[in-house]
Amino acid sequence: MKIAVTGKGGVGKTTLTALLARAFVDQGFKVLAIDADPSPCLGQALGFPSELVARLEPIARMEALIYERTGAQPGSIGGYFKLNPRVDDLPDQFSVEARGVRLLELGAVEMGGAGCICPESAVLRALVTHLLLRRNEVVLLDLYAGVEHLGRATADSVDAMLIVVEPTRRSLGTAAQIKSLAQDLKLARLYLVGSKVQNDEDRRLIEAGSPGLPVLAYLPLDDAVRQADLAGEAAYDVSPRLRQVAEGLTRAIGLKPVEPASS
Ligand SMILES: Nc1ncnc2c1ncn2[C@@H]1O[C@H](COP(=O)(O)OP(=O)(O)OP(=O)(O)O)[C@@H](O)[C@H]1O
Ligand SMILES: [Mg+2]
Repeated sequence: MKIAVTGKGGVGKTTLTALLARAFVDQGFKVLAIDADPSPCLGQALGFPSELVARLEPIARMEALIYERTGAQPGSIGGYFKLNPRVDDLPDQFSVEARGVRLLELGAVEMGGAGCICPESAVLRALVTHLLLRRNEVVLLDLYAGVEHLGRATADSVDAMLIVVEPTRRSLGTAAQIKSLAQDLKLARLYLVGSKVQNDEDRRLIEAGSPGLPVLAYLPLDDAVRQADLAGEAAYDVSPRLRQVAEGLTRAIGLKPVEPASS
């Protein structure tokens, strides 16, 4: 299953993606976490050691690879290149892994809209759309803020989208925009996740302001997120509250690991 996490800037998308990644692993899933933010920080939120994160190179910056797969130099516009390059081996080759989570960085290229047709966007788009899922694998996509990237490619390939909202009218307004775009693209499973929630009033505000979408979970405002960040740890490991909500959320999404077939 592929799950995309989106929402207004700074609402807690990366924090949620990292929490979910660990919670899915604890439930027996393989997890591939894809950092689609041009300034990547998912590795940090996952508490990956900095030496490991330093080994990651965003796919969009791998010029030789992009040339090899598309037949064109990155940055070239026009001319001929393969629109559907082979990508299935890229996660194995270019991800780093810790605590059961594989992490891949995409880098800064627009992949949603039709606007950018360049070799590197073809590779990224193929990665997101044609990634082969292994048995019991969950792919989590940490998208960057805003709605522009919500093009066909993303919507066609994700099974569910979580829109993260704070108890503010602005983040709920962004959620409404994302909803209407996602509906135009016929993305069926669309949910809200409340973030930085302090009390019942915050919950009510989110529920009342929801653009008609169910709220799957409420992540509490918890200083452990900041402390974990400073200590280079994962919020999942330092905050039982956040871990509990993440576990509940994985259940609400409704995936069950499949037992290996017995022979
Ligand atoms: N549940 C929470 N409790 C307290 N602080 C939080 C919580 N979730 C996120 N934060 C804080 O909010 C800030 C933004 O979080 P995060 O990076 O997860 O958001 P984002 O939506 O991914 O941001 P961006 O749009 O920049 O990618 C960080 O400083 C983080 O520590
Ligand atoms: Mg982020």
